[in-house]
Amino acid sequence: MAKLKIQKLANALGAEVSGVDMSKPISQEDLQQILAAWKEHLVLRFRGQELTDPQLLEISRNFGEIDPPGPNSYGKPFLADFPDINVISNIKVGDQPVGGLGDGEAVWHADMTYIEMPPKASFLHALEIPATGGNTEWGNMYLAYEALPTHLKQAIKGRKAIHDATYNSAGMIRKGMKDVTDPREAPGAHHPLVAKHPESGLPCLFLGRRRNSYILGMDLDASNQLLDELWAHIDNPEFTFTQVWQLHDLILWDNRCTLHRRDSFDPQSRRLMHRTQIKGSSVTPFE
Ligand code: SIN
Repeated sequence: MAKLKIQKLANALGAEVSGVDMSKPISQEDLQQILAAWKEHLVLRFRGQELTDPQLLEISRNFGEIDPPGPNSYGKPFLADFPDINVISNIKVGDQPVGGLGDGEAVWHADMTYIEMPPKASFLHALEIPATGGNTEWGNMYLAYEALPTHLKQAIKGRKAIHDATYNSAGMIRKGMKDVTDPREAPGAHHPLVAKHPESGLPCLFLGRRRNSYILGMDLDASNQLLDELWAHIDNPEFTFTQVWQLHDLILWDNRCTLHRRDSFDPQSRRLMHRTQIKGSSVTPFE
């Protein structure tokens, strides 16, 4: 039987895990190696994993309890038989989208940080991919924090920000939400800007998403200026890994210390991804 192998994919984060068939129960030995690699590299890629939805759920459960998807723009789960799986797709059947996020860019974000206990991890499984485009990028927020200039570290020390629940990363409004005109009134959880990772104990930038974010206790203009500086800082190839998708790639990421974004792609092509999330805990400040 092939032995599990871990190979780094980029300097900042990301590693390829080979020698494991994720459609079969994972041995304790392999699981421990995968968990250690995940802690070290934050994003893991498993290539050539042809999985059914029940298998994707089963794999996910090795990492904790499944966290169901948040509300989408259509007000009901995309997969009636598997409501714990989210669908990311531009495909329509008739005029009905089979998934969310369409074919445009999805801006930098972490998943569901607008709730008190955002998911700790997400899996994304590629079922259909376009010939080009639709690449996904992950950023390492430990590195981003470490590399912050001192004046920015000082400026965000002990501060919290609102993580707006209104819009998804493709700019679509979630069902039942109202447009936000003043970010100070945006609905969503308040989290520390510098979080302590619950497992490593290390500090990482915890930004969520830019739209309608607001740093509590600051003047709105000053908050916007500081947030713009932080978001400009994280958008740096030195902190990132870019995933060029192949069919049946499975990616696992740590949602607590990474951000991700997606490139747009040809609207005429089809892209279909199934995603699961693992429940996390409250976000604690790094002090
Ligand atoms: C996501 O933001 O979870 C989806 C990323 C992608 O479509 O590659």
